[in-house]
Amino acid sequence: MKPTSAEAPAFANATADRPAGKPRVVSGMRPTGKLHLGHLVGALDNWASLQDQYDCFYFVADWHALTSGYADTSELVENSYDMVADWIAGGLDPERSTIFVQSLVPEHAELFLLLSMVIPIPWLERVPTYKEQMQELSETDLSTLGFLGYPLLQTADVVIYNAHYVPVGEDQVAHLELSREIVRRFHNFYGQLFVEPKPLLTKFARLPGLDNRKMSKSYGNAIDLSDDAETVRKKVMQMYTDPKRIRADIPGTVEGNPVFMFHDAFNPNTAEVDDLKSRYREGKVGDVEVKKKLAAALNAHMDPIRARRAEVLAKPETLREILHEGSRKARTVAGETMERVRAAVKLVYR
Ligand code: TRP
Repeated sequence: MKPTSAEAPAFANATADRPAGKPRVVSGMRPTGKLHLGHLVGALDNWASLQDQYDCFYFVADWHALTSGYADTSELVENSYDMVADWIAGGLDPERSTIFVQSLVPEHAELFLLLSMVIPIPWLERVPTYKEQMQELSETDLSTLGFLGYPLLQTADVVIYNAHYVPVGEDQVAHLELSREIVRRFHNFYGQLFVEPKPLLTKFARLPGLDNRKMSKSYGNAIDLSDDAETVRKKVMQMYTDPKRIRADIPGTVEGNPVFMFHDAFNPNTAEVDDLKSRYREGKVGDVEVKKKLAAALNAHMDPIRARRAEVLAKPETLREILHEGSRKARTVAGETMERVRAAVKLVYR
C-alpha cells in the first residue's frame, strides 16, 4: 500500500521543523528489550526504508509498555536503550530520522487528556483487541483506565506530529481507523487541527519462530539481532521443518515450512533457494544441508547489523545523546501542536 501522492494539507506544513514537501511518518514500538528477526522483517526494515522519502519520527513507546506491564518497571529504561541500539544496528539513522522516547515528550499525555474528554468509552471498549488481550493476559489486572485508553494514547502519539502515515502491521489497522474517527470527533468540537493518519502496511507480514509459532520473545523461539553466529547456527539446526520427513529421501513440503520462509526472507541467492526447494520436494536433499545454507545466509545478513551494534554499544554516551536530542526535537514539534490545540480549546491564559 504505497502512497501515490503526498496529500499534505497546507496546515500540516505549518511547523518550522517539517522539511518542505516530505510527508511525515510516525511509528512507535514498545520497549521489549533486544529485538529479534521478526521485528526486523515485520517493522524495522520497513522503517529504515522510509527514511529518505519521508520525514520519519520513531519513538520508544514506554508509556504503552506500562499499560499492561505496570507492575514491574525495573527494566523499562534498560530495555529502551537495548531496543534503540538494535534500531540503529538495523538501519535507523539518527541523522535522518527523529528517534525519541515517548515519556520524554509529556505533551503526548496532555493531548491524550484532551482527547479523553470527548471520546465515549464504548468506542474504546469496542476495539477488537481490547477484550481479547484482557483474557490473554489474565494474570494481570487490565481493568485499568490506562489499558482502556491505549488507542487514545496511540492517537495522540501520531496526530501530535501531524503524521500522514503510520507504518504498521495488519494487526494495528483497526487502531488506526479508530484514530481517524477520534480525530474527526475532536475536530467537530474544536475545528480542524490534525492530519488524519493513514496506515502504511508492512509488506512482509510475519516471520515464524523456530517452532513455527509466531516469533516471540515470550515463546523462546526467536533469533535475536544480537545473537552471535554460532548461536544462530545452533538455533537454525533446531528449527522445525516438515515433520513428515523422517528421512532425507522422503519428498517434503516447502510451502509454510519455516526453514524455507527464512530462506525466502534472507537468502539473496535465489538460484540456491530454488535448487534447494526442488530437491526438497523430490526428497533429494537432507534438512542438514538446507539448514546449513540458511545459517550461512542469515549470518551474512546479520554481520553488518552486528558490526553496527558493536559500534553503538561501544559509545553508550552517544546513544543517550541520540535519544535526548531526538526527544528535544520531537518536543519542539509537539509543543507547537499543543499551542494550537490549547488555543482551539480556548485554554489560553494571558
Ligand atoms: N501499539 C504499538 C505496538 O504495540 C506501539 C505504538 C504506540 C504505536 N503508539 C504508536 C505504533 C503509534 C504506531 C503509532 O507495537
